[in-house]
Amino acid sequence: MPAVLDRLSALADLTRSRLLLVLERDALTVGELCQVLRLPQSTVSRHLKLLADEGWVSARAEGTSNRYRAALRELDPSARQLWQLVSGEIAQAPAARQDATRLRSVLAERSTRSREFFATSAGQWDRLRSDLFGARAELAALPALLDDSWTVGDLGCGTGQVSASLAPFVRRVVAVDASAPMLGAARKRLEPFRNVEIRRGELEALPLEDGSLDAAVLSLALHLAPEPARVLAEAARVLRPSGRLLIVDMMPHERTDFIESMGHLWPGFDAESIGAWGRDAGFSSTTYHPLPADPAAKGPTLFAAVLRRGSSSTR
Ligand SMILES: C[S@@+](CC[C@H](N)C(=O)[O-])C[C@H]1O[C@@H](n2cnc3c(N)ncnc32)[C@H](O)[C@@H]1O
Repeated sequence: MPAVLDRLSALADLTRSRLLLVLERDALTVGELCQVLRLPQSTVSRHLKLLADEGWVSARAEGTSNRYRAALRELDPSARQLWQLVSGEIAQAPAARQDATRLRSVLAERSTRSREFFATSAGQWDRLRSDLFGARAELAALPALLDDSWTVGDLGCGTGQVSASLAPFVRRVVAVDASAPMLGAARKRLEPFRNVEIRRGELEALPLEDGSLDAAVLSLALHLAPEPARVLAEAARVLRPSGRLLIVDMMPHERTDFIESMGHLWPGFDAESIGAWGRDAGFSSTTYHPLPADPAAKGPTLFAAVLRRGSSSTR
């Protein structure tokens, strides 16, 4: 028997076709379907079961109930054609027109419920957001604003945290560091990313061609450089004209113990020093932003400075 004949019986019932028409527009629970079709739960469940058994609808568990939707895309072409013919006719039936009106009210009620939730939970939202998604979940998404055709340098990459944040969003990342053990750890972390290239080299003599990067990041590395001006000049060399360098480092601080414990050479940097070194290195503008302190962090406040190759000014 041709497959299409098997399909006829499921649709040869007005209630089942109405159900399918509604579920083609939105995914609904049995309770919502009862409201839309004005039918008892037992009737809706019985017809839904048959439609599900024959592959016309699928269900997704949601809390204690299921949400149903039409599964038309998963059906064979002849079944889809059959449904097109049937739905065109059924949509004009008075019962189906009333279903469409009631569906709009059910969906409006749903959105009222979510508005009510947010109207009453404004005070709790920050905690709930953090519980569900982490303290600053949006920050991980921000590199998606970068141009995905870019090659970005992670200069002084250490164990590769910055590279790992950038790699999903840009064409290529080149991670450079002088320390073999740090690069070993970076290699492990960055193994899943096929677009990250790891190179050993000095910030003062980068293993990169002139103008080969669209952007570069120097994160928590500049305070270790004996001559920051040289490092910035080298970064300017490897950036294309109008490329950008992002420096993340510490603002001026009093933690002299960092000199002993971690070999820091500079107790943080202010906007003036970064701006002056940037100008000398050939950058045309610098912006310097103190970063908001993480309440859990014990170190000095950080800044983010962006140095641009191109038209001139310092803000
Ligand atoms: C404090 S770690 C920061 C690592 C990473 N950028 C981050 O944000 O986690 C500094 C890194 O810079 C590297 N570094 C310091 N001076 C360097 C230099 N002159 N040339 C190349 N790498 C350097 C160190 O080996 C170290 O891995």
